[in-house]
Amino acid sequence: MSTQAPVRRTTVPQIRARKGGEPIVSLTSYHAHTAAIVDRYADFILVGDSLGMVMHGMESTVGVPLDLMIMHGKAVVRGTKRALIVVDMPFGTYEESPNMAFRNAAKIMKETACGAVKLEGGKRMAETIHFLVERGIPVMAHIGLTPQSSHVMGGFKTQGRDEETWAAHVEDARAVAEAGAFAVVVEGVVEPLADKITAAVAIPTIGIGASKNCDGQILVLEDMLGLNPWVPKFVKMYGDLGPAIERAVAEYAEEVKTRAFPGEEHVYR
Ligand code: KIV
Repeated sequence: MSTQAPVRRTTVPQIRARKGGEPIVSLTSYHAHTAAIVDRYADFILVGDSLGMVMHGMESTVGVPLDLMIMHGKAVVRGTKRALIVVDMPFGTYEESPNMAFRNAAKIMKETACGAVKLEGGKRMAETIHFLVERGIPVMAHIGLTPQSSHVMGGFKTQGRDEETWAAHVEDARAVAEAGAFAVVVEGVVEPLADKITAAVAIPTIGIGASKNCDGQILVLEDMLGLNPWVPKFVKMYGDLGPAIERAVAEYAEEVKTRAFPGEEHVYR
């Protein structure tokens, strides 16, 4: 008989209760093996639809299909045991109606066994967030720079440069919080606006390119590891894996060409 208590995953109420407390640590992850590493440090892991760009070479997140999110969501859940796993609802799977959103959110939760979903949009999505939460689906909201609307926004543009727009962003934050979202990602907004939003809502704000005063932070794992050729300028690089992989591949190619590989000790005889 085991005497060890089972490790339990971080829960949605635990994340919600961190408002104004110890900062929430979060990263994206799309595969089982990186998720297993991140799991030891993150409170929640986001299977972000950024995987379309990072893993699949898409130009935006708009083309990401639901099945791809589910496939990566399953891998991340399999690779982890501690962190809350949040899976992004991709563009076109929730905006049309609360019913459609419920159908697709339920599919994500049933098939991946994740703990929550995330969707983009403020005030305009409040009714849908309420509908989902009332029916047992925890929702993380996402406001500010919302990449799924990049075509409307004219690209991945920092929001709130014009102070006159601040009230609408704060209203978005209040609307998703009142609708029942347990946390809200605040992406790509000027720092004083992010601080205003954090002060305005009773749920944790998770910043990305926003402010160090948010209740938590999230980064795209591949960005902070130095694996992406282009990263937004707010990203601090904690690794240099792109050049490290290139060096390893170049060394391998050289050894194959000069028949230095495989070494004697690696050959079956
Ligand atoms: O898709 C994603 O990775 C995200 C984060 C950048 C917050 O939404």
